[in-house]
Amino acid sequence: MNILIVGSGGREHAIARSVKNSPLTKRLVVAPGNPGIANLAECKKIEVDDIQGICKLAKNIKADLVIIGPEIPLVKGLKNKLNEIGIKAFGPTAEAAMIEGSKTFSRNFCKKYKIPQPRFNYFSDLNLAYSEIDKLNGFCVVKADGLASGKGVFVCDNKQEAKLACKEMLNEKKFGASGLKILIEERITGKEASVFVVSDGKDFKIIGTAQDHKRAFDNDDGPNTGGMGAISPAPSLDDSTFKKIITDIIQPTINGMALEKKKYEGILYAGVMITKDGPKLIEFNCRFGDPEAQVILPLLETDIVEIMIKSISNNLKDIDINFGTKKAITVVLASKGYPGEFKKDIILPDIPSYKDSNNLIIYHSGTKLNKNDELVTNGGRVLCITSISNTVSNCRENAYNFIKKLNCPKLFYRTDIGKL
Ligand code: AMP
Ligand code: GLY
Repeated sequence: MNILIVGSGGREHAIARSVKNSPLTKRLVVAPGNPGIANLAECKKIEVDDIQGICKLAKNIKADLVIIGPEIPLVKGLKNKLNEIGIKAFGPTAEAAMIEGSKTFSRNFCKKYKIPQPRFNYFSDLNLAYSEIDKLNGFCVVKADGLASGKGVFVCDNKQEAKLACKEMLNEKKFGASGLKILIEERITGKEASVFVVSDGKDFKIIGTAQDHKRAFDNDDGPNTGGMGAISPAPSLDDSTFKKIITDIIQPTINGMALEKKKYEGILYAGVMITKDGPKLIEFNCRFGDPEAQVILPLLETDIVEIMIKSISNNLKDIDINFGTKKAITVVLASKGYPGEFKKDIILPDIPSYKDSNNLIIYHSGTKLNKNDELVTNGGRVLCITSISNTVSNCRENAYNFIKKLNCPKLFYRTDIGKL
């Protein structure tokens, strides 16, 4: 098959690696890709939100399957446009991707289908938002309604912090149109876990579980990021909690989306908090997580291309998905200053001289080649080091030993990824 992957980060590097290993793959093209992905596939310089450009490329390469990695093209309707020109695509339509694209849609949907979640209210007016914060005594979570690359969530301890977040979004338009409507949620507590399923609109199968480490620094300190590392399977999920997430959150979502005429095809990512009253939904995403894909996909024993074809052809019930008994962690190496301001174009060590093995994989997230063909940083999250082993402590030892060997003093990383 001719396969086109859309995206340029560590998640798409992980997808590309798994797709490349499938005997069904003949030609693999990635738009726009990155220098790490370029070792596995042909990269074409078309940005992920250039819907027309991606459709044209898919047509030119006679793509049998397009895999859409990030949320932006999904929310913008890339799948719809590809289907209109007769090209198959893995991922939800724009209508179904609203489950991530609008947090108010997602919260109202969960309310309607009785999916457990924190109490919430949404606002466009600053004074009304302020009085809600006063009611909650500042202990709340303020969120931009629309997409904000994982940065539009403010977990607040007091009124001052919460009011500042509201003001920055509603008055100062920090996240543009995404932040003109905001959610103010009850702040719940507990351990977090993410469950990933693949759906064909009717049936769904589990493809893996993970725990993300969202805060920038060790011990969950510092601001929220897109994710500084992940571990799979999610250590905080026991069997009964896992079953409850499936029956109380995933199943009603797949059924509810079909009832809403927003049939859900593709990956559904449920971020959950395990509270003393049981698991509650923190957020839905309409795609694999980044960096969660970098731990889930290396553990997957079933052919990813076959899974995606079954999802598109509404035959998921015909496939068993296996992910073995091994564990994986991934540690993100990030540019100093991320998730705030950071410098780009910092020269990296000789990464290409390190070869991936079955137990240790270097995924590129934000890298590029400069004019002199040197590998340099090109984003907040730069590299993800994934380690796979029979125990989490082995994973940690191997990943952190390797990072020391790499020696990237201009990047920072958390030292507690996977620490149980
Ligand atoms: P999100 O991008 O919605 O997943 O939020 C990022 C992080 O903020 C989550 O992983 C949680 O740690 C935290 N968070 C979001 N919503 C809530 C909430 N209602 N209560 C407590 N923590 C939350
Ligand atoms: N790591 C969080 C996300 O991909 O949304």
